[in-house]
Amino acid sequence: MKPLLALNWKLQKGPAEAFSWCRTLLEQLPDELPADVAVMAAAVSLDRVGNALRGSGVQWGAQDVSKHAKGAFTGETAAGWLNELDCTYVVIGHSERREYHFETDAIAGEKTAVAIRAGVKPILCVGEKLDVREAGNAESYTLTQLETALSWLTPEVLNTEFKGSLEWLTIAYEPIWAIGTGKTATPDDAENMGNAMRYWFVQRYGETANNLRLLYGGSVKPDNIKALCSRSNVDGALVGGASLELDSVVKMLEALK
Ligand code: 13P
Repeated sequence: MKPLLALNWKLQKGPAEAFSWCRTLLEQLPDELPADVAVMAAAVSLDRVGNALRGSGVQWGAQDVSKHAKGAFTGETAAGWLNELDCTYVVIGHSERREYHFETDAIAGEKTAVAIRAGVKPILCVGEKLDVREAGNAESYTLTQLETALSWLTPEVLNTEFKGSLEWLTIAYEPIWAIGTGKTATPDDAENMGNAMRYWFVQRYGETANNLRLLYGGSVKPDNIKALCSRSNVDGALVGGASLELDSVVKMLEALK
């Protein structure tokens, strides 16, 4: 499976900057990409990002979505509109949404289902705080997050909406203590969690769970991405700070060659 390099810009680039950044990126990319690349932009930037990237092979997506498909929900963005803007992905349940917008695993699960039904691939984020890791409970905490969020993903849903394949879903393990702190999980930490999540999925959904991408996120940079992504069950990275500068994105792609 080709790794996925997902660039989570957070609240850092508006429409004009996003458009010119994407155009310049395309000039600097090698002909053969060693990874799938996706730009996760603010909702208001997605139209411009799509115009800049359409036809290039670089994908784009949103950073959040409403759990409602439609209705009187001021300020929300519907998954169907993300599909209309040709978004491949949407990040769901990011720790910043959980912390500042009180999102729970159950809400993340509802959003994941809404995205799938609209034909947009969710990147569902999970991961523990430092005290949970220090208490030795990182795995059980993270697997419980998956269990709660994906409780709607029954075998029947897998066979109908997912057409039997978990390729539709991506999970990003982002330990909260490693986000924006410069403290990266070690490659062993990332691999151990990747292995635990893969085992959890295979137990529930069988061999199709081997098609599911498991990303790592948290202080990923050009100088550590190779060590992380060369581990088993680390199928790419969700990158925040190091996704903002073109130079560092090009360097991360070089490291993934
Ligand atoms: P940093 O790469 O800045 O630590 O952010 C990680 C993240 O939150 C990606 O979604």
